[in-house]
Amino acid sequence: MATVKLIAANWKMNGRVGAAKTLVAALKKGLAGHKGAAVLLCPPSPLLSQVAEQIKGSVMELGAQDCSQRNDGAYTGDVSAPMLRDIGCSTVILGHSERRAYHREDDSLIACKMRAAHRAGLKVILCVGEKDAGLDSAQREAIIKIQLSNGLAASANATNTVIAYEPVWAIGSGLVPTAEQIIAVHAYIATCLPPSMKGARVLYGGSVNAKNAASILKLSGVDGALVGGASLKADDFLTIIAVA
Ligand code: PGA
Repeated sequence: MATVKLIAANWKMNGRVGAAKTLVAALKKGLAGHKGAAVLLCPPSPLLSQVAEQIKGSVMELGAQDCSQRNDGAYTGDVSAPMLRDIGCSTVILGHSERRAYHREDDSLIACKMRAAHRAGLKVILCVGEKDAGLDSAQREAIIKIQLSNGLAASANATNTVIAYEPVWAIGSGLVPTAEQIIAVHAYIATCLPPSMKGARVLYGGSVNAKNAASILKLSGVDGALVGGASLKADDFLTIIAVA
């Protein structure tokens, strides 16, 4: 298990130039002298360059929310992994349930994107998780096993890849699985990983906020959090980083 936790902010399709400047300035101020958890900001693509400039000299790293499986060419609207690396991203989120749902991304496409990301020198946060809150543990594990075995590229290892367990029903809903479920799924994920990924970080994501972060982050096998809504409020996000 990783000793330093990773707290990643997924801004999703939120933010404008001015609001992002204000948010990042507040985070920078709040993190002056910070020595604990690793911190990653994943703003939407149009804000990446400005956030890259603003976080220079801070502990924060920059990530994107998706990348193409291709490097260059006639692919209107797409953004490639080498482009993201070029503007200062260290990481890219892949396989988020919103990409799977609204862009019909499947595990094999996600594995292609992961290969492209690794080739460009990016780290990947691969999101997995069940849609339905009512599944039993065997059903849940079967879904996660497929997402991992088909979604992980052969290039994945414990240094360049992080898994995020994000039950889809917990995202943005205010609902969180029981502590027992989180512990069990994180332990199960560890058993599914190939030898090259032994010891890789496994994050929890889905309605993590300033109030519940401490109790989630102390659970066995939880190496950090992928935070959506609460990462858009500087005070809340700083609290989550502090309790990590
Ligand atoms: P949430 O989103 O924290 O708003 O639930 C998490 C995510 O989708 O990564």
